[in-house]
Amino acid sequence: MKVMVVGGGGREHAIIKALKKSSEIEKIYALPGNGGIAEDAECVPIGAKDLDGITAFAVDNGIDYAVVAPDDPLVLGAVDRLTEKGIPCFGPCKAAAIIEGSKAFSKELMKKYSIPTAGYETFSDMESALSYVRKQTPPIVVKADGLALGKGVIIAESVEIAEKAVRDMMEDRVFGDSGSKVVIEEFLEGPEVSVLSFTDGKTVIPMISSMDHKRAGDNDTGLNTGGMGTVAPNPYYTEEIAEICMRDIFLPTINAMNEEGRTFKGCLYFGLMITKNGPKVIEYNCRFGDPETQVVLPLLETDLFTVMRACTDGTLSDIDVEFKKGYACCVIGASSGYPVKYQSGFEITKDEDFDAELYIAGAKAENGKLLTAGGRVLGVTAMEDTLEKAIESAYKNIEKVHFENIYFRHDIGQRALRALK
Ligand code: AMP
Ligand code: GLY
Repeated sequence: MKVMVVGGGGREHAIIKALKKSSEIEKIYALPGNGGIAEDAECVPIGAKDLDGITAFAVDNGIDYAVVAPDDPLVLGAVDRLTEKGIPCFGPCKAAAIIEGSKAFSKELMKKYSIPTAGYETFSDMESALSYVRKQTPPIVVKADGLALGKGVIIAESVEIAEKAVRDMMEDRVFGDSGSKVVIEEFLEGPEVSVLSFTDGKTVIPMISSMDHKRAGDNDTGLNTGGMGTVAPNPYYTEEIAEICMRDIFLPTINAMNEEGRTFKGCLYFGLMITKNGPKVIEYNCRFGDPETQVVLPLLETDLFTVMRACTDGTLSDIDVEFKKGYACCVIGASSGYPVKYQSGFEITKDEDFDAELYIAGAKAENGKLLTAGGRVLGVTAMEDTLEKAIESAYKNIEKVHFENIYFRHDIGQRALRALK
């Protein structure tokens, strides 16, 4: 079978490496992929948002199955376009991808179906948003409605900062049209858990839980990023919490989407906060998380391609999805200065005794060399039977990867480790 994966980051590299294990797949294309992915798939220079290009490529090359990984093409309707051409896909259709594409939609959905989440108000008018903000007690959570590369959430420590966030989003449009509406939310506290799940629209199978580290600096300081590292499983996600989540969040969400005529198939990502009043939804994503995927898929025992097709075909209840025992830790090597300003174009090398999984996120191949080409450059994932050893091994191995301005956090997994002890 010929498979096409849309996207070109570390997540896509992890998906491709997992798919490569399937004996049924003869050939994998990545659109556009990247210089590192090129070692595992044939990269085709078609951008992930170029729906015409993606569809034409799939038709012209007899693609048997497509995996659409990033949020943008899903929200734009890539799956609908490919499905119209008879190409089966992993990923939600446009009507279902709105669960990530619009926070106003997802908040409304949770309110309507009593799915636990932070209290909120939505505003399309800036003056109303500002007068609401002035009546709140900080911290005040201000969110742009649409996609904003994971940066559209401001936790404001004062009313002034919240007002500025509203103006930035609604007046200055720092996130473009994503800021035409804002959601202002109650501030929640507690450990965060990411749960990615497979669903065919009827059955939902949660994958092993994970913990992201979103802030740029050690001890959760600095700006929010796409994610600086992950561990799995997440010790805060106990069996008891998992049961509550299935009953109060996962199944109700799948059912709610069906009720709305927006059946969700693919990977539904639940961003949860375990508050003292129980687990609540912080966000939904309509896709695999990055870098959660880089710790979750290496622990997947069952063949990924089989699971993906069962999601597409509506036969997920027929298969068992198994995960390995043990722990995984992924440390992201970024360009120093990310997520603001950074330099690129430095050669990436690795020592011969490097002994972990290497997922390339932002790099290009040039004259036989791999050069940095992005903020998050790569991820190093180690798997061990204990969390402590997984963390140790991920750090030992990222020291064996080199590029001039490499930056990584030094405390990935420490919070999880403290929770275990
Ligand atoms: P989101 O893009 O919605 O996942 O938000 C990014 C990050 O902001 C989350 O991972 C949380 O750490 C934080 N956050 C979002 N909403 C809230 C909230 N209501 N209360 C506290 N923190 C939040
Ligand atoms: N790591 C968070 C996300 O993928 O949205």
